[in-house]
Amino acid sequence: MVLSSRMNIGLLGAGNVGKKLVELIEDRDELGFKVSKVLVRDVSKARSKIPPDLLTTNPKEILETSDLIVEVMGGTTLATEVMLEALNNGKRVVTANKAALAEHWETFKPFIKKGLLYFEASVMAGTPTIGALTGVLRGSRPLELHAILNGTCNYILSEMEKGEIYSKALKGAQDLGYAEADPTLDVEGFDTAHKLIVLARLVFDPNAKWESIEANTKGISSITPEVMEAAAQRNGRIRLVGSIYPCDGQWTYKVRPIFLPNTHPMANAASNRNALYFCGDAVGNVFITGAGAGGAATASGVLSDIISASQGLPGPSLITKAAVVPRNADVEILEEV
Ligand code: NAP
Ligand code: HSE
Repeated sequence: MVLSSRMNIGLLGAGNVGKKLVELIEDRDELGFKVSKVLVRDVSKARSKIPPDLLTTNPKEILETSDLIVEVMGGTTLATEVMLEALNNGKRVVTANKAALAEHWETFKPFIKKGLLYFEASVMAGTPTIGALTGVLRGSRPLELHAILNGTCNYILSEMEKGEIYSKALKGAQDLGYAEADPTLDVEGFDTAHKLIVLARLVFDPNAKWESIEANTKGISSITPEVMEAAAQRNGRIRLVGSIYPCDGQWTYKVRPIFLPNTHPMANAASNRNALYFCGDAVGNVFITGAGAGGAATASGVLSDIISASQGLPGPSLITKAAVVPRNADVEILEEV
């Protein structure tokens, strides 16, 4: 089923991701998409590429004028409310909002089951992750997963390796459009935790609880230049890593700074790049890397979902049972800092 030959897109948010998405849609005219209305907080702000008459502060106008809703405004309250209203009206919704997914998964679940919710860009932006994990990699039982999932932290740590101070490196990540509106989500590890719990539910345990990872989350704000220097002396570097692995007969979820030797495949991911290492019983080790933050890379992931939705393809499917927890697994040992 093709939804419409000229599909009207109701866009929630025109910040780093939203404005880049408008540009991509304009540039890719052959796809047949049209941005019909755009929800923002401040309609008086100048926005090149977005005619002022498209802007509104009224979510109802977005819902009434669009075939498909794209949510790139962030936050867990209004964004969730508007997405749910659209879904309840039978509209397909594309979102990059991992915080809303992590914290309101059960509310979204009936719509994910129906294939109406698309969220590839919520984890690793435009780098194939959710599609791969809910597609080809479902052919193997998962054994463990470790990943660098936050571009802001990766950028800060990469800059600190070059001698930059923490506060300036964070400012750089904000200027480049990598950081969340509230950057404590990035640097205290919660953005990584939001992404990891989404992956956990799609791959390891459909009932994984946000609280079980929130309590095991530590960020990078206490990493000093001395810690970075000590890692360099040992031919390695510090990276914020989210992990899912078997421990005492259960799936365990953790986010924390890790010492990675320079020879580790994830150690090469610098700046805003992310890296994900998946181990499956039949496929073995799989490594995925690419841009994980930034307006363009994220808008690319969002656009891929819009294309899928326009073709009537369903969003990511759920698993119904937890994956068997391996008893004597040979788990990757990572050194916590
Ligand atoms: P952003 O630059 O802060 O943009 C947010 C946009 O949403 C702005 O246009 C803002 O309006 C609008 N907005 C926010 N709250 C609103 C409200 N209550 N009512 C109406 N409009 C509101 O954020 P972003 O970096 O584009 O990120 C957007 C989403 O994508 C977030 O969920 C984020 O986690 C996710 N994401 C971002 C990246 C990235 O690299 N940036 C990557 C992956 C996923 P004004 O412009 O008027 O302020
Ligand atoms: N703030 C997030 C990051 C955006 O830095 O990775 C991408 O999800």
